[in-house]
Amino acid sequence: MRIVLFGPPGAGKGTQAHRLADRMDLALIATGDIFRANVANDTDLGREAKAYMSKGELVPDDVVVRMVLERLDEEDVHHGFILDGFPRTLPQAQALENALAERNRPLDAVLKFVIPDEVAVKRLAGRRTCRRCQRTYNVEFKPPRVEGVCDVCGGELHQREDDSEEMVRHRLEVYHQDTEPLDFYFWERGLLRQVEAEGTEDQVTERALKAISDLAEGD
Ligand code: AP5
Repeated sequence: MRIVLFGPPGAGKGTQAHRLADRMDLALIATGDIFRANVANDTDLGREAKAYMSKGELVPDDVVVRMVLERLDEEDVHHGFILDGFPRTLPQAQALENALAERNRPLDAVLKFVIPDEVAVKRLAGRRTCRRCQRTYNVEFKPPRVEGVCDVCGGELHQREDDSEEMVRHRLEVYHQDTEPLDFYFWERGLLRQVEAEGTEDQVTERALKAISDLAEGD
């Protein structure tokens, strides 16, 4: 299956992307994670992306699209994927649709995670992210077993630079202005389901799986 997750920063897309990819045995493509890995490795792509990410702005479409299209041709992606954080603009959505049509591998589902902005701000204030595998924790809702250490890979946990309250509020504005209108684009294509993203991680995963199976059955 080919599934897109979108929603505001802090909605739990990354958390659910890992859970769904594990449960459904799908490749995971997370554009924010790919950019952060490039920033950490000080690549040309990382230096370009950092200029935008550090201000809470979107990286230009041509840069993101090129990066995602290259990833779509890697072998592990052929049998299906979860896309976390892409597309975020209309040109990105159109580029994805065209690329998948050329490859005869159309999208099966687009899940929009919905939470109030104030919940997002609270979640991101407490988020800690693994430098190595990018899994996320939360000092309040999901602390790691050992403070500062990833349960899964043992990597160091840190607070993302763009998780200050001021930056989160700006990222929310960018989301509402540039990304949220995509829901109409996907709704018109019969691909969209909204997923209530408050509640426990397990509850959200079950809602997401139900939305995917409803779409697969044509409900
Ligand atoms: P990206 O990394 O994609 O960030 P984002 O979309 O802003 O989303 P977040 O990672 O902040 O939140 P999330 O929804 O994944 O939540 P999470 O699961 O971590 O993008 C970063 C930047 O990269 C962008 O600003 C942009 O500059 C650039 N970029 C990336 N893609 C781009 C694109 N396509 N085009 C242009 N630029 C692009 O959860 C958050 C917290 O909540 C965690 O602490 C978690 O433990 C906790 N939590 C999760 N679920 C629950 C729950 N059910 N209950 C309680 N707490 C929960």
